[in-house]
Amino acid sequence: MSRTIAVTGATGFIGAMLVEHLLAAGWNVRALVRPRSAHRMTEKPGLEAVTGSLQDGESLQRLVQGAAAVVHCAGAVRGATAADFNAVNVEGLERLVGAVLALSPRPRFLLLSSLAARSPELSHYASSKRQGELALAAMAEDMEWIALRPPAVYGPGDREMLPLLQLMGRGIAPVLGEAHARVSLLYVEDLCAAVLGWLNAGSCRSGEYELNDTQTGGYSWDEIIAKVSALRARRIIRLPLPVVLLKSIALMNVAVARVIGYAPMLTPGKVRELRHPDWVADNSALTAAIGWQPEFSLEQGLWRTMGWGEPGSAAIER
Ligand SMILES: NC(=O)c1ccc[n+]([C@@H]2O[C@H](COP(=O)([O-])OP(=O)(O)OC[C@H]3O[C@@H](n4cnc5c(N)ncnc54)[C@H](OP(=O)(O)O)[C@@H]3O)[C@@H](O)[C@H]2O)c1
Repeated sequence: MSRTIAVTGATGFIGAMLVEHLLAAGWNVRALVRPRSAHRMTEKPGLEAVTGSLQDGESLQRLVQGAAAVVHCAGAVRGATAADFNAVNVEGLERLVGAVLALSPRPRFLLLSSLAARSPELSHYASSKRQGELALAAMAEDMEWIALRPPAVYGPGDREMLPLLQLMGRGIAPVLGEAHARVSLLYVEDLCAAVLGWLNAGSCRSGEYELNDTQTGGYSWDEIIAKVSALRARRIIRLPLPVVLLKSIALMNVAVARVIGYAPMLTPGKVRELRHPDWVADNSALTAAIGWQPEFSLEQGLWRTMGWGEPGSAAIER
């Protein structure tokens, strides 16, 4: 059997960590790299780069040829319009699946979707992730596939959740959600372990699977602040951000992005995501399917990422 895994998004936060874990586990990795990516991939034994993109069908054929599995981590996470997200998260995915379907035998397919796909009405991003899942299911024929739905993922190199946690560590906690809102979190190495678990499981029922860390039921913002406060042994000032202010900043950001021509992160859709009361994920279906379980609590993930707190668990010391 082939030991090659085709990976997209390998220059991104999650994909880069995943490549490290795949190589360490003895897989060969063939990674799609855009010619103008701001992030370079270091040459390593077992790692092969294919220059191309999700818009370039020929590069996708070279990427998936002879692979045992395709792990699709590339995604648009910033943008202003539905078209910004759909071009990558739907049309790019369809192109990649098309390249896989042309093969015989067909590699297994893992899509890194998002918990946001559960509430597609909230934002263009969430809608594109759900449409991607539906397109995959509709196209798959006899190809085995799963879509992983992580909640907010954090770890080294993360540009979304980590800056917020770092600010909390310095004593200021912007409170973005409602007091009763709950969110699940996931440390990036637990996500990589889930992908490896799926590869090793050999076969798994096709479908969508949620993931979360060791804290069943997620966290309130106050609980996250309290944990960071305990780890840093310092008082943290809560800074509730009124929704009107957040929405105004988001509208301004989109307008400026249109003029200057960048892909904005904070948009009205992102504000709706941030204000959503229920981002609690449930691991149980994935655990039953492949035996994966998270190892890292928030304290352990933050120790691993930023050196806060004390090691003190087998998961950290392994
Ligand atoms: N981070 C989270 O908290 C989180 C949570 C749930 C789900 N997810 C999902 O996980 C995936 C990875 O997220 P991330 O946080 O690692 O994002 P990221 O750091 O922004 O990385 C995105 C990756 O996708 C690549 N990419 C974007 N457009 C592409 C295109 N048209 N063709 C080929 N490659 C393209 C980027 O390549 P360049 O280097 O060339 O830009 C980069 O490698 C996304 O699908 C996201 O929806 C993330």
